[in-house]
Amino acid sequence: MQFSPNPNSQISPNPQPYRVVVAVGGGIAAYKVCEVVSTLFKSGVEVKVILTNSAQKFVTPLTFSTLSRNSAYTDENFWQSSQPRPLHIELGEWADIILIAPLTANTLGKLVHGIADNLLTNTILASRCPVLLAPAMNTDMWEQASVQRNWELLLTDTRYHSTGISSGLLACDRVGQGRMTEPSEIVTHIQSLFHTKGDRALTGKRILISAGGTREFLDPVRFIGNPSTGKMGLALAQAAQHRGGNVTLVHAPINSNIPHNIKSIHCTTAEEMRQAMIEELWNQDVIIMSAAVADVKPRNYSKEKLAKKELPETLPLAPVPDILAALASRKQTHQQLIGFAAQTGDIITPAMEKLQRKNLDAIVANPIDQPDSGFGYDYNQAVILDKQGNRFDIPHCSKLQMAHQIFDFVLKSGAL
Ligand code: CTP
Repeated sequence: MQFSPNPNSQISPNPQPYRVVVAVGGGIAAYKVCEVVSTLFKSGVEVKVILTNSAQKFVTPLTFSTLSRNSAYTDENFWQSSQPRPLHIELGEWADIILIAPLTANTLGKLVHGIADNLLTNTILASRCPVLLAPAMNTDMWEQASVQRNWELLLTDTRYHSTGISSGLLACDRVGQGRMTEPSEIVTHIQSLFHTKGDRALTGKRILISAGGTREFLDPVRFIGNPSTGKMGLALAQAAQHRGGNVTLVHAPINSNIPHNIKSIHCTTAEEMRQAMIEELWNQDVIIMSAAVADVKPRNYSKEKLAKKELPETLPLAPVPDILAALASRKQTHQQLIGFAAQTGDIITPAMEKLQRKNLDAIVANPIDQPDSGFGYDYNQAVILDKQGNRFDIPHCSKLQMAHQIFDFVLKSGAL
C-alpha cells in the first residue's frame, strides 16, 4: 500500500518521502522487524536502521541494509569519527519518526532515566520527533513491578507512543503477555504518526464505530449481504486509537484481524448490531456508522438448511431496523453522530437527504462506482457534509488517511 508521499493529501502535504529510524533491540522479535522495514520501504518510506549489540545476536545489519536499501548502523559506527557530524545527531535530526522494536526491558530502563550509552539511546536523546515503542519480552519480565513502573513512567512523556503488547505463545514457550505487536499494526501506527505528527487530540474521548456488512440469513447457509469488508471501519478505529481515543468497534464479519488494543464486539445481523450500538451509546463522544447494513431480511428463517428444491421462487422480504435512526433518537446533545452514504452517480443529493432524514451531525458520502475506491479496496474518496452546511472534499487516498481526515474534520468543527 503506497502511503507516502501522498500527492492528494489536503492536510500537511509532504513533498519529501517520510523518514523513519528503526531502532532494533535484542529480542527474538527482532526477526519480525525485518518485515516492518521491508513494508515501509515498499510504501515509499526512507528507512535507516540502528541495531544494538544484542540485536545483532538475532539479526544482522546486512539484513536491514538489504531490506531498506539504506544504511544499518551499529555501535561500531557510533564510535567511528568518519562522519562530518556525530552519527546520533545526524540520525536524530533526520528522522520524522523513530520506532523502537522490540523494546527490551534494558532499553526501557535507560530511556526512563535518560541514560545514553549506545547509538540507540543517544539518538533518542538527540531527537525531538515522536517515538513509537513496540515492547516484547517474556511474561514474567514484562510483569515485573520495576518494568511496569518504568513503562508507565515513560508513557507520561507525550513524545512516546505505544503499540501495546500482545498475548499468545512466546518464544520461551510461555503463553501470556509479551508478544510484540504484529508488523502490519506497527506499520499502520507509523502511518498514523506521519499524519498526526504525534498529536493525540482524541485523548479522553470515547469513539464508537461500526464496521463490515451485516448478514440476514434465510437458513443456516444462505444470507442477504453486501461486499463490505470492514476496511474503512477498521481504519477509523485504528486512526482514533492512534490519536489517543478510547475505541469500541462493533463489527459484522470482517476480513482483517482487529488490533489487540481495540475493544471489539462481534455481531452478524442488523438487529444484533442495533442492540450492541444502543448498549454502547451512552458514554460515547463520537459515533460513526460506517457499517454497510442490509436494508432487508428474508421474512422467514428456516433453522434447517433448505434443499435446493425447497428454495422459494420469490423471496418475501421484511425491513431491518434503521440503526442510525435509533441512535439519533437516543443521543445526547454533546454526542457527534456521523453516518456514511455509499452511492453511485450523484453522491451529494442522496447524502444530504440522509443527513437530514437520519438527524445526523455529519455524513461521509463516498462513491462506489469509481476505480480503486469503496468496498474491499485499500483506498477511498469522499465528501463530508455536516448539518451546518459545511462541505469537505477528501480526494482519493488510503482508507487510513481518509479516517484521519474525518477526525480532523470532527476536531476542527469544535464539537468535541
Ligand atoms: N444504516 C443504518 N441502518 C440501516 C441502514 C443503514 O444505520 N438499516 C446506516 C448506514 O450504516 C450508513 C447510513 O445509514 O451510515 C446510510 O446507509 P444507506 O444504506 O446509504 O442508507 P439507507 O437509509 O439504507 O438508504 P438507501 O439504501 O435507500 O440509499
